[in-house]
Amino acid sequence: DTLRLPLEYVKGVPLIKWFAEAMESLEDFQAQPDDLLISTYPKSGTTWVSEILDMIYQGGDVQKCRRAPIFMRVPFLEFKVPGVPTGLEALKDTPAPRLIKTHLPLALLPQTLLDQKVKVVYVARNAKDVAVSFYHFYRMAKVHPDPETWDNFLEKFMAGEVSYGSWYQHVQEWWELSHTHPVLYLFYEDMKENPKREIQKILKFVGRSLPEETVDLIVKHSSFSEMKNNAMANYSTLPLDVMDHSISAFMRKGISGDWKTTFTVAQNERFDADYAKKMAGCGLSFRTEL
Ligand code: PPS
Repeated sequence: DTLRLPLEYVKGVPLIKWFAEAMESLEDFQAQPDDLLISTYPKSGTTWVSEILDMIYQGGDVQKCRRAPIFMRVPFLEFKVPGVPTGLEALKDTPAPRLIKTHLPLALLPQTLLDQKVKVVYVARNAKDVAVSFYHFYRMAKVHPDPETWDNFLEKFMAGEVSYGSWYQHVQEWWELSHTHPVLYLFYEDMKENPKREIQKILKFVGRSLPEETVDLIVKHSSFSEMKNNAMANYSTLPLDVMDHSISAFMRKGISGDWKTTFTVAQNERFDADYAKKMAGCGLSFRTEL
C-alpha cells in the first residue's frame, strides 16, 4: 500500500517514506554550475515561482511552457512515488540550463549544489498560511500520514513533526545561507502584492532581461486563476492516489491571510507565543498582517 505511511527520519528530518528512499540515489546527483535551484519549505509558492522561471527561460513563450507538467519542466530533486518518474529520471531528460525544485533542509541538501555555487531562488511564506495550506495538502496527497484534525496537525507543525521538518529552521537556515551563497530570498506575500516587481528581481538575479510586454505576459500566465486552469501547472495529471483534487484542489485559494478563517483565537495565541521564541533574533520578518 502506497498510502498514509508514517514519515521516516533521515538525518533527523522527517520525510515521506518514498522520498526517504530517494535520498540514497541522490548520492549520484551532479549539479551543474548553470543549474538554478528553486528552494522552499512546502506550500510556500514553489509551483508559482517555478512557472515564472520556466516562462523566463522560454522567453515568455506560453506554448513552450505547456510542453509538459510542471514536475517534468522543473524536476523535483527528491521526488519519488510509485508510477511517476522520479526527480532524477525527470532530470535525465532536462536540457541545460536546468531548473530544479527542492524542499530539502540544508542537512539533506546534496553538497554538489553548494560546491557548484548553483544560484538559488528561495521563497518563504508566512507560517500560519503555510500550516493551513499544508494541512489541506496532507488531506489530498495521501502519500502523507493522515493529518487527523486541524488542531492535531497544527501541533505537529509547531513541533516540526511534519514532512520536511521544522518550518522555523528551514526559513532561518536558508536565510543564513543567503549571506554566503547566491540566494535570492523572496516572500510569497510580496509576490501577491506586486508580482511584476518580484519578477523583475528574479530577472536581474538570473542575469536576463525581457521586454516589458513579455514581463506583463508572465504576470498574467502565472496568476493564480490561469495556473488553476492550466493542467500543465495544477498537478491534475498525477494519479489520484498521489493527489486527490476532489478532497482539496492543489490550487486551493492562492491568497495571503487564509489562516484567519482557520485558526481559533486560542490556537493563534499559542502559536504566536511559540513563534516568538523560535524566531527570536533571526532577522527575518513575515507580513502576517496581510
Ligand atoms: S508544493 O506542493 O510544496 O510544491 O506547493 P507550493 O506550490 O509551494 O504551494 C502551494 C500553494 O501555493 C498556492 N499557489 C499560488 N498562489 C498564488 N498565485 C499562484 N499562481 C499560485 N500557484 C499556487 C496554492 O494555491 C497553494 O496555497 P493555498 O493557500 O493552499 O491555496
